[in-house]
Amino acid sequence: MSIVLQDVHKAFGSNQVLRGFSLEVHEGETVAIVGQSGTGKSVALKHVVGLLKPDRGEVWVDGVNLGQLAVERLNEIRRHVGYVFQFAALFDSLTIEENVGLGLRRIPEMTEKAMAERVRECLALVELEGYESRFPAELSGGQKKRAGLARAIATQPRYLLYDEPTTGLDPVTTTVINRLIMKTREELKVTTVVITHDMESAYLVADRIGMIHEGVIRFMGTPEEVRACSDPVVRGFIEGKPELLEGAG
Ligand SMILES: Nc1ncnc2c1ncn2[C@@H]1O[C@H](COP(=O)(O)OP(=O)(O)O)[C@@H](O)[C@H]1O
Ligand SMILES: [Mg+2]
Repeated sequence: MSIVLQDVHKAFGSNQVLRGFSLEVHEGETVAIVGQSGTGKSVALKHVVGLLKPDRGEVWVDGVNLGQLAVERLNEIRRHVGYVFQFAALFDSLTIEENVGLGLRRIPEMTEKAMAERVRECLALVELEGYESRFPAELSGGQKKRAGLARAIATQPRYLLYDEPTTGLDPVTTTVINRLIMKTREELKVTTVVITHDMESAYLVADRIGMIHEGVIRFMGTPEEVRACSDPVVRGFIEGKPELLEGAG
């Protein structure tokens, strides 16, 4: 029940984004991936659900090498992976109940009653009880993010991937989201990857933090190890000093 990216290379035309990116997330662990904007964090995450395929290297989820999978098997794996997209990605024409229930609809033995019950549970977990019949346009940015999280956990995934869950949110909503990530992690024991450029979030929610720089994991360690790390690139990022990032290769 782990996620393994092994020496993943990925380019878009002449833009070599991942250059031997390796990452192992153990069962039940929460790993944060931090790094500057445009360094390939989202690209790396999309490999975990097969939305992108590596040019070179391997991606393993749940002990299965995604590279050799037929579409049906890939969809089966995806069912165990909740993906919280950077921009909530709710369907505007569907109610919150319908949005959160999307994944549940694909489970054959699911009754309407069980579905409504599960949606209610998930909305309660993200503190959106009573929002079932609202539409996304009626929700604030933070509420939409929480609805996106409710949708991701509805099918009880074994893995949760968050892409920038706190980006663009005010400090109070950021705290609410961070607490939700920690609560979800404790209550559901899911193996979790959180992509963020917010160090405070990373320190708070992660067992280990990896920093991506120039297409590879430059440093990986516990929050304490990251705080104590003397690598100028890591320091440059966590202290917000771009000159350190530029100077070191
Ligand atoms: N589908 C795509 N086609 C072409 N270029 C892409 C695609 N997805 C990402 N990129 C490029 O890959 C680089 C890394 O993007 P991304 O992973 O989104 O960065 P971030 O670390 O901010 O999440 C950027 O230069 C981006 O323009
Ligand atoms: Mg991104």
